Amino acid sequence: MSTTHLGQIFHVAGSPTVFGADDSLAWFSDGALVVDDAGTVVYCGPREGRPADDAEVIDDHGDAFLIPGFVDTHIHFPQTYSVDAYGGGQLLEWLDSCIFPAEARLADPAFAEQIARDFTARRIAAGTTAAMVFGSAFSHAQDALFAETRRVGLRLISGRGIQTVGGPSAQALLTSERDAVELTAAEIDRWHAADTGSVDTALLHAAIVPRFSLSVTTDTLAALGELYDDVRDRGVYVHTHLNENNRPGTGEIDMVKRSFEVASYLDTYDGKFLPGGRVGGKSLLGRRTVMAHAVHCTDGELTRMAETGTSIAHCPVSQLFLGSGTMPWRRTVEAGVTVAAGTDVGAGDEWLISRVLSDAFKVHLSEPGDASVAIHPAEMLFTGTLAGARALDMEERFGNFDVGKEADFLVIRPERWAPLEAILAHGVRADDDRTARDQTLFALLMGLREPAIAEVYVRGARVTA
Ligand code: GUN
Ligand code: ZN
Repeated sequence: MSTTHLGQIFHVAGSPTVFGADDSLAWFSDGALVVDDAGTVVYCGPREGRPADDAEVIDDHGDAFLIPGFVDTHIHFPQTYSVDAYGGGQLLEWLDSCIFPAEARLADPAFAEQIARDFTARRIAAGTTAAMVFGSAFSHAQDALFAETRRVGLRLISGRGIQTVGGPSAQALLTSERDAVELTAAEIDRWHAADTGSVDTALLHAAIVPRFSLSVTTDTLAALGELYDDVRDRGVYVHTHLNENNRPGTGEIDMVKRSFEVASYLDTYDGKFLPGGRVGGKSLLGRRTVMAHAVHCTDGELTRMAETGTSIAHCPVSQLFLGSGTMPWRRTVEAGVTVAAGTDVGAGDEWLISRVLSDAFKVHLSEPGDASVAIHPAEMLFTGTLAGARALDMEERFGNFDVGKEADFLVIRPERWAPLEAILAHGVRADDDRTARDQTLFALLMGLREPAIAEVYVRGARVTA
């Protein structure tokens, strides 16, 4: 038996790069998405063209829009309540004054359970069906996150945030190097593909998550490289921060280059260290590695990420909040790196991936001279859905409505958010189908707010808090 969801459908079909998103954008104003009992897409297209099925169950969503679930490739679970925290400064001051103390509160197991519930509920409200989640330093908090995510049925990749060095405000989050490796390995054993037992069908996956180079030592990085070498074949992920703050002298990037004596920040993650500071080791880069930010990369760093299949979580909302600058869009995508979207909650103060896409549109149009680019609405949708699935190395499973994929989708009812309903009803003025398609999608993505997300589905099953 299958379920037929009727509505207006948008998705980026096939497997294009961002440059082919426009030509791959499918719009069915009278569409049908047919999902079988296993949660697999068996048809997506005009409702009249769907295969006849006597046992068909129809879920008619009327004028609602059906789009693929949003993929957030960088979000901090322990910062759920730290959105819009006033830290009076850029990255390193904000971490010290707001974030490390806030994350230390998850030492309390009851608090950790509460924040795991609230974090997961916010994900459902924002339609974030898949996420790469930067974890807590505390194993019990990670257990609470995985358990709650499993209970509701969202997709999750996460790992405990690893810190082995830091100043006074970070003390509660530090472990020894040995514990960092052992606790991470234990989390992988406990949660990686724990829901189905197979990495290819799981909704839950584990990651190795050094907070950033300044939170670890060369020995920690060498040991994590060894650990990754052991678990890479099991489909484990790596997630961290790269090239976010370039304040001269006292900012993150200059501090990394000085402390680690490397020519580029990416080198610190790329197998340059052995225990005792000797050179040579195992790289953390690869198809299941996601670097958050990558705002200030050299050409060499972009080339290395492209050749290793390492992806970027682009977080413009956060970059505005912390004064981190603007990732050069054209140069980065032309280098061949997969660029997906990340909220970076709590430096990002939006949970909704479409708000990230909205800021991406604005900041990249505002880049100077030839770098200025007007991102097409299809490229926006691509970045928030299919590119996210690709960055998470699960493009063959979700990210669009191609037949055979797992059906992750949102039902958006514009009437639940009057300003969105108004711009769709009165703001779209097009003489031809393609312009109508582009204007409708742009208005939908720019005007969307959480109340309009009426239903969220993962693998064909409705997800509720
Ligand atoms: N770099 C290291 N830790 C963090 C964090 O929590 N947020 C952001 N935006 N950057 C980081
Ligand atoms: Zn972050």
